[in-house]
Amino acid sequence: SNAPVKVAVTGAAGQIGYSLLFRIASGALLGPDTPIELRLLEITPALKALEGVVMELDDCAFPTLAGVQIGDDPTKVFDGVNMAMLVGARPRTAGMERGDLLSANGAIFTAQGKALNDVAADDVKILVTGNPANTNALIAMSNAPDIPAERFNALTRLDHNRAISQLAAKLNVPVTEIKKMTIWGNHSATQYPDLFNCEVGGKSAAELVDDHNWLENDFIPTVAKRGAAIIAARGSSSAASAANATIEHMRDWALGTPDGDWVSMAVPSDGSYGVQEGLISSFPCTVKDGKYEIVQGLEVNDFSRAKIDASVAELAEEQAAVKELGLI
Ligand code: NAI
Repeated sequence: SNAPVKVAVTGAAGQIGYSLLFRIASGALLGPDTPIELRLLEITPALKALEGVVMELDDCAFPTLAGVQIGDDPTKVFDGVNMAMLVGARPRTAGMERGDLLSANGAIFTAQGKALNDVAADDVKILVTGNPANTNALIAMSNAPDIPAERFNALTRLDHNRAISQLAAKLNVPVTEIKKMTIWGNHSATQYPDLFNCEVGGKSAAELVDDHNWLENDFIPTVAKRGAAIIAARGSSSAASAANATIEHMRDWALGTPDGDWVSMAVPSDGSYGVQEGLISSFPCTVKDGKYEIVQGLEVNDFSRAKIDASVAELAEEQAAVKELGLI
């Protein structure tokens, strides 16, 4: 059908928004034949800046952009949306304790979860990019009892893409040779990028690398700390690459993953791989007909087990902290 797909973006006047909106509007999300209506949410003081961004969207005259609405009220902006990209979040500022950060984000994601519950379209897909992404997604999910839990995802696709890029450089192969990359766990420094189930030209990535010291002490920390390295180099956090990953996650969730490959998505656990139900954790996933499945039956060796367990333990701690605060 040619009815526009309604796509909400929160934090739309922020850095990620400035990359994200133009690519969504130009057709990078759902292709050139699907019109898009953008619904942009910001806090009141940022609405003026957002108006400027909308002027620039107008000035692109994108054929796929059927309309733009902006506002600071989630129950208006989210009305009838088919996709919601929750990018806006409260960053940690100097002197802020972890509890303060969780409370500030808790307020945002509680309100947005409730609003989505009340007014989003029945087929809504929700992806949280704003940090702490997994736990923010958990808060939104817990406040939206009428939306199936599996519609709440968090973003680990940027970590996935970073891992592919680092491995391609190490093996001196094009990124297109690399399949079945997996990020397990939390979008944080404890995340585990898995080369044991990854394939390069059909062969085991870990065997091709054949250097456990590099895998453990170079590859994993480089991927996990890439965000901090970007901040150190650029003076602000990754934005274009985060926007790209947000689009790729949503695009694949809507349109499917290619045969013979999978992607990393943080999704509500069904208990797969010993990750307790109730956590939103990153897994290898395939998508068909708009539904994802966690890839089953992969080998988890002792090294991988310990890494996954450590990241999942961190997610469980975050869950306990937001429970304690009454947010879930
Ligand atoms: P930014 O600070 O440039 O923009 C955030 C925007 O969100 C601001 O314009 C702010 O006004 C808005 N905002 C705050 N509260 C809001 C609310 N209640 N409703 C609507 N909008 C609200 O930040 P940037 O660089 O765009 O990053 C956004 C988030 O994405 C951050 O939390 C960042 O840590 C996270 N991030 C996540 C990545 C991932 O891989 N999961 C990668 C990179 C960034």
